[in-house]
Amino acid sequence: MAYAQIVGWGYAVPARVLTNFDLEKMVDTSDEWIRTRTGISERRIAGPKESTSTLATRAAQNALQVADLSPGRVDLVIVATSTPDYPVPSVASLVQDSIGASRAGAFDVNAACSGFIYALAVASGLISSGLYETILIIGADTLSRIVDWTDRSTCVLFGDGAGALLLRRSESPTGLRSCVLGSDGSGVSSLLIPAGGSRNPLTPEHLQNRQNTIKMKGSEVYRFAISTIVQATRQALDAAGMRVDDIDLFIPHQANIRIIQAAARALDIPDEKVFSNVHRYGNTSAASIPIALCEAIESGRVRVGANLALVGFGAGLSWGAAIVQWGVDTTPVPIAWWKSVLRNLHSREAMVRSFALRTQRRLDALRRLNGIHGV
Ligand code: ACO
Repeated sequence: MAYAQIVGWGYAVPARVLTNFDLEKMVDTSDEWIRTRTGISERRIAGPKESTSTLATRAAQNALQVADLSPGRVDLVIVATSTPDYPVPSVASLVQDSIGASRAGAFDVNAACSGFIYALAVASGLISSGLYETILIIGADTLSRIVDWTDRSTCVLFGDGAGALLLRRSESPTGLRSCVLGSDGSGVSSLLIPAGGSRNPLTPEHLQNRQNTIKMKGSEVYRFAISTIVQATRQALDAAGMRVDDIDLFIPHQANIRIIQAAARALDIPDEKVFSNVHRYGNTSAASIPIALCEAIESGRVRVGANLALVGFGAGLSWGAAIVQWGVDTTPVPIAWWKSVLRNLHSREAMVRSFALRTQRRLDALRRLNGIHGV
């Protein structure tokens, strides 16, 4: 039997910090309201030159560095996102190109904030089945680009970021132990961007009414989130043949500290086994679980043999819970200077390769055009 072991991890967030005090100057809100209702103090906002793919690329490069693996060894890139750089093509294709994963396939998964659990399930299945050996999964979102910055009930909640895991085939029985994925599409109106898709193509009226931004029924999502986290976690534990006591670290989607605490209480998980960083990043959608996992690793809370419960929920409505058994040492290893040089060369090589391919394509187009005009 083959298992999908997590061998690399990394995250990236924009440098720009937007605090609750900054938001006080933008909408009718207060630091006190935001902190007491959500637990959020600040969030990161993408700069003008950043996008979902640039954050995803940085997270992916960090994961490859931890795994000490060259991008050429990656078989498949999967990006979970609902804020792609373009409607078409996928963010995964942009990342595949920018990291230089020259022989990898690439596609996106859109399951909103649950997306990373979906990507983990798909990648683990493809590896266990023997189809692939090495898969890079990334959760990346720039919700700041689809938020209505005049709507205080949503704009205070979200932030931007990306988190990545590198999965490799292994004989060791670690990685995904069980998984529960779910959807209730009847809840579509609870959390929705009404316009900009095939049902309501964008019009000037939509733009004027900000119908191209997130509309959310906060209290509906709140109630759905708590009951769903509890139910999905129990189902995933059952499927893994485990009990709540077997969980070493609970890493739910970082949307709201009250949701996290209420779900943990209902599951009887003690505070010391719950990880949260929502105060610093807000809700980064598909990026929130992998960023939290990376920070849990950084703070020494993930050891070999640890059982992690990862649970996501979001628009759809959708949800996903996974029990993951950790299999590799997380002690940071100092990187030899020559490896840093090599890594730098890899990323330059990827840029040069991409530039050469684009140029080649332009030249081919020119040649064809000249052919048509008989020059
Ligand atoms: N500052 C001040 N007041 C505010 C703000 C704000 N930023 N936002 C709303 N209010 C007001 C409301 O207008 C309302 O006023 P009213 O009573 O005069 O009408 C009052 O505060 C209470 O509003 P509620 O919506 O009842 O506040 P609640 O305690 O439910 O908290 C919140 C709102 C934080 C949005 C909560 O419902 C929540 O976290 N819901 C879940 C959201 C979530 O997790 N979404 C992400 C899903 S993942 C994805 O796929 C993207």
